[in-house]
Amino acid sequence: MLIPLNPLLSTPLYLQIVEHVCLLVRGGQLNVGDRLPSTRALADQLSVHRSTVINAYDELRARGLIDSAQGSGSYISANLRELTRNPAPQRDQYPIDDQNIERLTSELWQANHDKSIISLALGTPPEDLFPMQAIERCRNLVIRRDGGHAYGYEMPQGYLPLRVEIARDLARHGILCDADEIIITSGVQEALTLTSRALASPNDVALVQQPHFFSDLANFRHLRLRGVGFGLNEHGPNRLDLEYALTLCREGGSGSYPRFIVVSPDYQNPIGVCWDAQNRLAFLHWAADHEIRVIEDATYRDVAYEPQPNPPLRALDAEVLYLGSYSKSLMPGLRIGYVLARGSLREQLISMKRITTTSSESLGQRTLAAFLAAGAYAEHLERVNAIYALRRNALHEALQRYLPAGCSWWLPNGGYYVWLNLPPTMDAMRIYTQALARGLAIFPSAPFYLLDNQPHTQALRLCFVRYPEDVLTYAVRMLGQIMNSLNNQRQFKNT
Ligand SMILES: Cc1ncc(COP(=O)(O)O)c(C=O)c1O
Repeated sequence: MLIPLNPLLSTPLYLQIVEHVCLLVRGGQLNVGDRLPSTRALADQLSVHRSTVINAYDELRARGLIDSAQGSGSYISANLRELTRNPAPQRDQYPIDDQNIERLTSELWQANHDKSIISLALGTPPEDLFPMQAIERCRNLVIRRDGGHAYGYEMPQGYLPLRVEIARDLARHGILCDADEIIITSGVQEALTLTSRALASPNDVALVQQPHFFSDLANFRHLRLRGVGFGLNEHGPNRLDLEYALTLCREGGSGSYPRFIVVSPDYQNPIGVCWDAQNRLAFLHWAADHEIRVIEDATYRDVAYEPQPNPPLRALDAEVLYLGSYSKSLMPGLRIGYVLARGSLREQLISMKRITTTSSESLGQRTLAAFLAAGAYAEHLERVNAIYALRRNALHEALQRYLPAGCSWWLPNGGYYVWLNLPPTMDAMRIYTQALARGLAIFPSAPFYLLDNQPHTQALRLCFVRYPEDVLTYAVRMLGQIMNSLNNQRQFKNT
């Protein structure tokens, strides 16, 4: 164990040792039950007096971080995880700005990977439902067949047989395209970054749904794009809002005309709306009339709990830029998505991909191609979508049973989320903070809106696919208790 000590710091050496040990535990390099070196051995190694290490171990013991048994050394204590866990955030009332949203999302990522927390916050498919046997078989086949090529650089546009399989699969949705129009990306996030950068420059305007996938909004801020929002209803985009958004853009001067509009007609994240056929056509006419480029994010298209009769926008209009992903419908760790583009934009996207990341990972692309060719994708979708639908129902029942009056939501026919609208008296951040302190992560609504477009009433996004029904029920009961107790506190204050 090498502990860097700095005698020039004002922190005494023994406390530097204590802090370093805490960091090692937080970082997972030391775990419960791990043995620390003897005081003599550590003192020799660090070239400090033995009493410095003895003081450090005394301090760790006093804080309950290590146990020492006479003659058998010092061990990381079983309490340690609790004791060193980051204190629950106390930021109920922080301003909605870029930095705080960044902090919140990074906290939620941590919670998502912390096994002691039930996380309904991020959109994570359950790892125990991944089709590991089929994937393993395909990967082994690829390695046997392709040898070292499976680990070589792939062409920037992506592995051709994978693009052929994707083109074939897209016919299922009524999309007719050539493998040559497909560019493989590291998930839809990269696809959106590349298309946004190709279509717009800093200070340009993009039209975005409100609420909208938080990560896209952060990405737009990062690219210095100015978002102008429009709302959705249960059938599709709100037409009046679209017109109003355009008026706002026009009032901003000629440089403000939107460069593109991003939409997700299938089970939109976060509210789960699926546009009806009429709205799809009307929207395409509207975009064509106003000469606005459409980006269709189809990430959740395959996560459907009922047959989906409405075609994607791209099937109705070949000019639509279609973004697809295998993250939610199969496995996000593959990091495989794609964009369908034509003409000079296609050329531009391929060269941007080459310049920025060279190509997406080779073995994953080849494995996925074999998986699709074997027909295993359809089988997997049928299996997991049936399970997700049951989980959605369980969440719905628990919400009906345990939540206080005034909350509202509706059941999506696909996707991962229920968007829980809170009554005007409830504060999403406060609920979030209290829930996290009790080991439950949920996503408060602020990051799903443009910074300057925060609504008066707030909401929580709940992902229902990750856990079985009993865990969802347990989590919602806890959420209900938290909301009820916050309600009681508020009423008590008001009396
Ligand atoms: C609407 C939407 N688009 C894109 C993504 C990112 O997908 P990928 O993992 O393919 O980058 C997500 C993930 O949550 C999403 O919800």
